[in-house]
Formats: sequence, C-alpha cells, structure tokens
Amino acid sequence: MSLFKVSPTDLIGKKGKEKIVGITAYDYTSAKLAQASEVDFILIGDSASMIMLGHPDTFPITMEEMLIFCQAVARGAPETLRIGDLPFLSYQVSTEKAIYNAGMMIKKGRCHAVKIEGGMEVASTVSAIVKAGIPIMGHIGLTPQRSMEMGGLRVQGKDLETAEKILHSAKALEEAGAFSIVLEGIPSDLAKLITEKVSIPTIGIGAGPHTDGQILVFHDVVGLFSDLRPKFVKNYVQGFELFKKAITSYKEEVKNGVFPGKEHQYTINPELIEELKRRYD
Ligand code: KIV
Repeated sequence: MSLFKVSPTDLIGKKGKEKIVGITAYDYTSAKLAQASEVDFILIGDSASMIMLGHPDTFPITMEEMLIFCQAVARGAPETLRIGDLPFLSYQVSTEKAIYNAGMMIKKGRCHAVKIEGGMEVASTVSAIVKAGIPIMGHIGLTPQRSMEMGGLRVQGKDLETAEKILHSAKALEEAGAFSIVLEGIPSDLAKLITEKVSIPTIGIGAGPHTDGQILVFHDVVGLFSDLRPKFVKNYVQGFELFKKAITSYKEEVKNGVFPGKEHQYTINPELIEELKRRYD
C-alpha cells in the first residue's frame, strides 16, 4: 500500500485542533486536483451514481462500478487518504457480505477506509468490519440510501424524537469503532451537540459550521452539477458556464476555420507530398 499523508488515526488527532477538509472524487483528474489542493481526505462517494452515471439517485450504483471509480482515484491521488463509499445493498444483506465488500474496497479499490450509511441499525456491522481491520467512517442524518423511508432528501432531526435518535446513532457508531462520522442535512445546533458528545471527528455536509470538518461534492465546489441544488452547496466557480463557453468557442473556431492554427499542426517535407501527388496522379 502506497504511503498516504493523513491516516484515519491522524484524522482523529485533528479533532478540536484544526478543521478537517474532505471532497469527493470519482476519477483520475478530479483526484489529481484534490491531491494538489492538499485536502485531508477524498471520499469516493456513491453520489457517483448521479454525477458520473446520470442516475436519478444513489440506488442503482453497484460495487463493481464503485471499484472502478476507486481505482481511478487511487491512481490520481496515491498519497491522499481515500475512503470508499459502500453502495446500497453491499452491506445490508449479511455481516459476511458487508465485510467482504468493505474488504474489496481495500483490496481492489485501493482505498484506506470505507464509509457506511446508517446509525444504530448498522452498529454491529460497523463493529464486525472494524474487527476485520478496516477503518470505518459512519454517515447519519440525511442518508440518501434511506430516502424512500424519509420521503425524499429531507433535513433530519428537527423534532426531539429524531434528533435523539441521531445523537444515539452517533454514540453507537463511536462505540462500534468508527473513526469519524459524516453528519448530513441536520440542524447546526444538533450537529454542534453531537460534535461535543463524541470523541471522534464529525464531518458535516449541510450540518452547519460547528462540526470538526466539512465535505462537499467536487462537482458542486466547481459548479459542474446543477441537477440537484441543496441549500448547503457552495459553488466556488461557475464551472458549467465556464466550460460551456470554452466548448462553444472551440465549436465556433472549427466552423470558422480558426482552429487548428499553425501551432497545432505537424509538418512534413513538401517534397514528400509532391512525390505522393505524382504517384497518385
Ligand atoms: O456520496 C457522497 O458524495 C456522500 C457525501 C455527500 C458525504 O456520501
């Protein structure tokens, strides 16, 4: 296994000292960008289902597809902590299957850790995977793989009962041996309380500023994905418009005979062309 700069244990050490920054990546080029930007970790998220494969949600993506994305990211960011997201149905069927698929993320996907959605209900699975030597990141609150139950991608934990359930889940994941927990789509004050109550880092997405770290989807950061626009997303550049302009300029230059210019062409001795003309007269 190649050396990586920040390990799951290092991430725990950052709690309360410095903010942790994660970003998703699914391919070689975005992984290279993430590594060059020196983020603390890369998540190969099952959001690839929508962003890379064009599905409407995360349900269809398979382990095989996730492994291809993980391998590409490993080639692009060999020195960055890489966490592979276990897709729907890869860990729910049995503990054995969960350990096997988590192991495949390491063995074939070249990840250093895996992420699993769910709280109390997956605590025994988390514990079994950790016992197999595989570091686990939990994910609670708005968990897209449970969006059918939730009636869509809705903010979670706004009433006492669900807020308490999320807090219990955070404690259960900590006890099961998770090294960090993603808190997605929950009120900021609930995220603050959870962050205070667990000893492992909380990584927020739509959970306000009080978590130990933040994660965003690469395509949201660079403004390339507009199908879904949750409130918590920030585009740091309008990539879609920027790239559209570039492609439109390319199209216009080809139509107008401007591209390719002299600097984009290869040359050949003109005498050889004359000889070819003679031969094919
Ligand atoms: O799949 C994903 O991108 C995620 C992040 C939003 C945390 O799970």
